[in-house]
Amino acid sequence: MTTKSYHNNDFLNTAINAVETASGIILNASTRVIKEYKSRTDLVTNIDLKSEQIIKEIISSKFPTHSILAEESGLANNNSEFCWIIDPLDGTTNFVHDYPSYGISIALYENGVPLIAAVKELPIGNLYTAIKGSGAHCNNIKINSSYTKTLSSSLLVTGFGYNHGDNWKKNMKLFKVFTDKTQGVRRLGSASIDFCHLACGKVDAFWEYDLKPWDVAAGYLIATESGCLITKLNGDEYSIYDNQVLATNSLIHQEMISIINKTI
Ligand code: IPD
Ligand code: CA
Ligand code: CA
Repeated sequence: MTTKSYHNNDFLNTAINAVETASGIILNASTRVIKEYKSRTDLVTNIDLKSEQIIKEIISSKFPTHSILAEESGLANNNSEFCWIIDPLDGTTNFVHDYPSYGISIALYENGVPLIAAVKELPIGNLYTAIKGSGAHCNNIKINSSYTKTLSSSLLVTGFGYNHGDNWKKNMKLFKVFTDKTQGVRRLGSASIDFCHLACGKVDAFWEYDLKPWDVAAGYLIATESGCLITKLNGDEYSIYDNQVLATNSLIHQEMISIINKTI
Protein backbone atom coordinates (compact mmCIF):
# COMPACT_ATOMS: atom_id res chain seq x y z
CA MET A 1 0.00 0.00 0.00
CA THR A 2 1.45 3.40 -0.93
CA THR A 3 1.20 6.33 1.45
CA LYS A 4 -1.22 8.06 -0.91
CA SER A 5 -3.72 5.23 -0.60
CA TYR A 6 -4.20 5.99 3.09
CA HIS A 7 -7.32 7.83 4.10
CA ASN A 8 -7.37 10.72 6.59
CA ASN A 9 -9.21 8.39 9.00
CA ASP A 10 -6.14 6.10 9.06
CA PHE A 11 -3.95 9.08 9.89
CA LEU A 12 -6.33 10.23 12.62
CA ASN A 13 -6.58 6.74 14.13
CA THR A 14 -2.78 6.59 14.37
CA ALA A 15 -2.69 10.03 16.03
CA ILE A 16 -5.39 8.93 18.49
CA ASN A 17 -3.51 5.73 19.28
CA ALA A 18 -0.36 7.80 19.90
CA VAL A 19 -2.01 10.41 22.16
CA GLU A 20 -3.84 7.73 24.15
CA THR A 21 -0.65 5.70 24.65
CA ALA A 22 1.32 8.81 25.66
CA SER A 23 -1.52 9.80 27.96
CA GLY A 24 -1.11 6.49 29.84
CA ILE A 25 2.59 7.23 30.31
CA ILE A 26 1.97 10.77 31.54
CA LEU A 27 -0.92 9.92 33.90
CA ASN A 28 0.90 6.90 35.37
CA ALA A 29 4.27 8.62 35.75
CA SER A 30 5.74 7.58 39.09
CA THR A 31 8.57 10.14 38.82
CA ARG A 32 8.77 13.63 37.33
CA VAL A 33 12.48 14.24 36.94
CA ILE A 34 13.71 17.45 35.32
CA LYS A 35 16.24 16.34 32.71
CA GLU A 36 17.08 19.68 31.14
CA TYR A 37 16.55 23.41 31.60
CA LYS A 38 16.19 25.00 28.15
CA SER A 39 16.10 28.21 30.22
CA ARG A 40 15.50 28.88 33.93
CA THR A 41 11.76 28.21 33.52
CA ASP A 42 11.65 26.08 30.34
CA LEU A 43 11.76 22.53 31.67
CA VAL A 44 12.12 19.12 30.05
CA THR A 45 11.21 16.11 32.19
CA ASN A 46 11.83 12.38 31.82
CA ILE A 47 8.14 12.15 30.88
CA ASP A 48 8.39 14.66 27.98
CA LEU A 49 11.14 12.43 26.57
CA LYS A 50 9.33 9.14 27.18
CA SER A 51 6.09 10.48 25.69
CA GLU A 52 7.88 11.75 22.57
CA GLN A 53 9.70 8.45 22.09
CA ILE A 54 6.54 6.33 22.19
CA ILE A 55 4.62 8.73 19.92
CA LYS A 56 7.42 8.67 17.34
CA GLU A 57 7.61 4.86 17.51
CA ILE A 58 3.86 4.52 16.90
CA ILE A 59 3.86 6.96 13.98
CA SER A 60 7.00 5.73 12.25
CA SER A 61 6.03 2.07 12.55
CA LYS A 62 2.83 2.89 10.64
CA PHE A 63 4.22 5.56 8.27
CA PRO A 64 7.99 4.99 7.98
CA THR A 65 8.41 7.30 4.97
CA HIS A 66 6.86 10.37 6.62
CA SER A 67 8.86 13.21 8.20
CA ILE A 68 8.41 14.05 11.89
CA LEU A 69 8.93 17.37 13.65
CA ALA A 70 8.91 16.79 17.41
CA GLU A 71 9.71 19.31 20.12
CA GLU A 72 12.45 17.46 21.96
CA SER A 73 14.21 15.67 19.08
CA GLY A 74 13.68 18.17 16.24
CA LEU A 75 13.09 17.34 12.59
CA ALA A 76 13.48 13.80 11.28
CA ASN A 77 13.41 14.73 7.61
CA ASN A 78 12.45 11.99 5.16
CA ASN A 79 11.82 14.49 2.35
CA SER A 80 8.18 13.44 2.47
CA GLU A 81 5.24 15.69 1.64
CA PHE A 82 3.79 14.43 4.93
CA CYS A 83 5.09 15.83 8.21
CA TRP A 84 3.83 14.92 11.68
CA ILE A 85 4.17 17.76 14.20
CA ILE A 86 4.31 16.65 17.82
CA ASP A 87 4.30 18.25 21.23
CA PRO A 88 4.66 15.24 23.55
CA LEU A 89 3.70 17.22 26.67
CA ASP A 90 2.31 20.70 26.21
CA GLY A 91 2.24 22.48 29.55
CA THR A 92 5.27 20.86 31.16
CA THR A 93 5.43 23.47 33.93
CA ASN A 94 1.84 22.63 34.90
CA PHE A 95 2.65 18.92 34.80
CA VAL A 96 5.67 19.37 37.07
CA HIS A 97 3.54 21.28 39.60
CA ASP A 98 0.49 19.03 39.15
CA TYR A 99 -1.56 22.01 37.97
CA PRO A 100 -4.40 20.44 35.95
CA SER A 101 -3.90 21.87 32.45
CA TYR A 102 -1.53 20.04 30.13
CA GLY A 103 -1.82 17.80 27.12
CA ILE A 104 -0.44 16.00 24.12
CA SER A 105 -0.66 17.51 20.66
CA ILE A 106 -0.23 15.73 17.31
CA ALA A 107 -1.02 16.93 13.79
CA LEU A 108 -0.24 15.74 10.29
CA TYR A 109 0.49 18.30 7.57
CA GLU A 110 0.72 17.56 3.84
CA ASN A 111 2.87 20.12 2.01
CA GLY A 112 2.16 22.60 4.80
CA VAL A 113 -1.61 21.99 4.86
CA PRO A 114 -3.09 20.45 8.02
CA LEU A 115 -4.91 17.14 7.40
CA ILE A 116 -5.72 15.79 10.86
CA ALA A 117 -5.17 16.72 14.50
CA ALA A 118 -5.54 15.13 17.92
CA VAL A 119 -5.10 16.79 21.30
CA LYS A 120 -5.56 14.96 24.60
CA GLU A 121 -6.38 17.23 27.54
CA LEU A 122 -4.97 15.99 30.83
CA PRO A 123 -5.60 15.06 33.52
CA ILE A 124 -9.31 15.41 32.66
CA GLY A 125 -9.00 13.10 29.63
CA ASN A 126 -10.89 14.98 26.90
CA LEU A 127 -9.90 13.97 23.37
CA TYR A 128 -10.16 16.72 20.75
CA THR A 129 -9.88 15.71 17.09
CA ALA A 130 -10.27 17.25 13.65
CA ILE A 131 -10.07 16.20 10.04
CA LYS A 132 -9.69 18.92 7.42
CA GLY A 133 -13.11 19.72 5.96
CA SER A 134 -14.98 17.44 8.41
CA GLY A 135 -15.33 19.59 11.52
CA ALA A 136 -13.89 19.23 15.00
CA HIS A 137 -14.95 16.90 17.81
CA CYS A 138 -14.48 16.48 21.54
CA ASN A 139 -14.93 12.89 22.71
CA ASN A 140 -16.63 12.20 19.35
CA ILE A 141 -19.20 14.98 19.82
CA LYS A 142 -19.10 17.80 17.26
CA ILE A 143 -17.90 21.11 18.71
CA ASN A 144 -18.37 24.73 17.66
CA SER A 145 -16.79 27.99 18.65
CA SER A 146 -18.89 30.36 20.76
CA TYR A 147 -21.57 32.80 19.59
CA THR A 148 -20.40 35.69 21.81
CA LYS A 149 -20.73 38.84 19.72
CA THR A 150 -19.05 41.51 21.84
CA LEU A 151 -15.79 41.78 23.69
CA SER A 152 -17.60 43.15 26.74
CA SER A 153 -19.37 39.81 27.22
CA SER A 154 -16.38 37.61 26.32
CA LEU A 155 -13.91 35.44 28.24
CA LEU A 156 -10.41 35.25 26.73
CA VAL A 157 -7.26 33.21 27.28
CA THR A 158 -3.63 34.01 26.56
CA GLY A 159 -0.19 32.72 27.45
CA PHE A 160 3.27 34.04 28.22
CA GLY A 161 6.35 32.32 26.82
CA TYR A 162 9.61 31.63 28.65
CA ASN A 163 11.48 34.51 27.01
CA HIS A 164 10.74 37.79 28.83
CA GLY A 165 11.66 40.08 25.93
CA ASP A 166 9.77 42.74 23.93
CA ASN A 167 6.86 40.50 22.99
CA TRP A 168 6.38 39.52 26.62
CA LYS A 169 6.17 43.21 27.54
CA LYS A 170 3.67 43.87 24.74
CA ASN A 171 1.57 40.97 25.97
CA MET A 172 1.51 42.39 29.50
CA LYS A 173 -0.09 45.51 27.98
CA LEU A 174 -2.62 43.44 26.04
CA PHE A 175 -3.39 41.36 29.13
CA LYS A 176 -4.18 44.55 31.04
CA VAL A 177 -6.35 46.17 28.38
CA PHE A 178 -8.32 43.02 27.58
CA THR A 179 -8.84 42.26 31.28
CA ASP A 180 -10.37 45.73 31.52
CA LYS A 181 -12.65 45.32 28.47
CA THR A 182 -13.92 41.73 28.88
CA GLN A 183 -15.39 39.47 31.54
CA GLY A 184 -11.87 38.16 32.15
CA VAL A 185 -8.63 36.85 30.68
CA ARG A 186 -7.34 33.41 31.71
CA ARG A 187 -3.70 32.27 31.56
CA LEU A 188 -3.50 28.49 31.92
CA GLY A 189 -0.14 27.44 30.45
CA SER A 190 -0.83 24.98 27.63
CA ALA A 191 -1.35 26.52 24.20
CA SER A 192 -2.84 23.40 22.58
CA ILE A 193 -5.43 23.19 25.37
CA ASP A 194 -6.15 26.92 25.05
CA PHE A 195 -6.94 26.36 21.35
CA CYS A 196 -9.24 23.45 22.21
CA HIS A 197 -11.09 25.49 24.84
CA LEU A 198 -11.62 28.13 22.16
CA ALA A 199 -12.79 25.49 19.68
CA CYS A 200 -15.53 24.25 22.01
CA GLY A 201 -16.64 27.72 23.09
CA LYS A 202 -15.33 27.72 26.68
CA VAL A 203 -13.46 30.90 25.76
CA ASP A 204 -14.13 33.35 22.93
CA ALA A 205 -10.54 34.11 21.87
CA PHE A 206 -6.93 33.08 22.41
CA TRP A 207 -3.81 35.02 21.53
CA GLU A 208 -0.12 34.56 22.25
CA TYR A 209 3.37 35.50 21.07
CA ASP A 210 6.37 33.29 20.36
CA LEU A 211 4.67 29.91 20.13
CA LYS A 212 6.41 27.13 18.22
CA PRO A 213 4.86 24.99 15.46
CA TRP A 214 4.42 22.03 17.83
CA ASP A 215 2.43 24.23 20.25
CA VAL A 216 -0.06 25.25 17.56
CA ALA A 217 -0.09 22.66 14.74
CA ALA A 218 -3.00 20.58 16.07
CA GLY A 219 -4.87 23.36 17.84
CA TYR A 220 -4.87 25.41 14.64
CA LEU A 221 -6.84 22.75 12.73
CA ILE A 222 -9.17 21.94 15.63
CA ALA A 223 -10.02 25.62 16.09
CA THR A 224 -10.39 26.30 12.36
CA GLU A 225 -12.67 23.31 11.90
CA SER A 226 -14.86 24.45 14.79
CA GLY A 227 -15.50 27.80 13.08
CA CYS A 228 -12.71 29.98 14.49
CA LEU A 229 -10.87 32.70 12.63
CA ILE A 230 -7.09 32.67 13.03
CA THR A 231 -4.75 35.47 11.92
CA LYS A 232 -1.73 37.36 13.14
CA LEU A 233 -2.42 40.06 15.74
CA ASN A 234 -2.85 42.69 13.01
CA GLY A 235 -5.27 40.55 10.98
CA ASP A 236 -2.70 39.36 8.41
CA GLU A 237 -2.66 35.76 7.23
CA TYR A 238 -1.23 33.37 9.82
CA SER A 239 1.05 30.35 9.48
CA ILE A 240 2.04 27.99 12.31
CA TYR A 241 5.63 29.22 11.85
CA ASP A 242 4.67 32.82 12.74
CA ASN A 243 5.60 34.23 16.16
CA GLN A 244 2.15 35.61 17.03
CA VAL A 245 -1.41 34.34 16.77
CA LEU A 246 -4.90 35.70 17.26
CA ALA A 247 -7.63 33.05 17.24
CA THR A 248 -11.24 34.00 17.91
CA ASN A 249 -14.80 32.80 17.45
CA SER A 250 -14.63 35.17 14.41
CA LEU A 251 -17.36 37.44 15.82
CA ILE A 252 -15.06 39.47 18.09
CA HIS A 253 -12.01 39.33 15.80
CA GLN A 254 -12.23 42.84 14.39
CA GLU A 255 -12.97 44.37 17.79
CA MET A 256 -9.85 42.72 19.19
CA ILE A 257 -7.67 43.86 16.29
CA SER A 258 -8.78 47.47 16.76
CA ILE A 259 -7.80 47.35 20.43
CA ILE A 260 -4.50 45.59 19.70
CA ASN A 261 -3.64 48.26 17.09
CA LYS A 262 -4.27 51.01 19.65
CA THR A 263 -2.33 49.24 22.44
CA ILE A 264 0.99 48.01 21.00
C1 IPD B 1 4.41 25.90 26.44
C2 IPD B 1 2.92 26.03 26.63
C3 IPD B 1 2.57 27.42 27.15
C4 IPD B 1 3.11 28.51 26.27
C5 IPD B 1 4.60 28.33 26.05
C6 IPD B 1 4.88 26.94 25.48
P1 IPD B 1 5.62 23.52 26.74
O1 IPD B 1 4.74 24.64 25.93
O2 IPD B 1 2.22 25.80 25.43
O3 IPD B 1 1.18 27.59 27.22
O4 IPD B 1 2.86 29.74 26.88
O5 IPD B 1 5.04 29.32 25.16
O6 IPD B 1 6.26 26.79 25.26
O7 IPD B 1 7.01 24.09 26.88
O8 IPD B 1 4.96 23.29 28.03
O9 IPD B 1 5.56 22.37 25.80
CA1 CA C 1 4.40 23.29 24.01
CA1 CA D 1 6.28 20.38 25.26
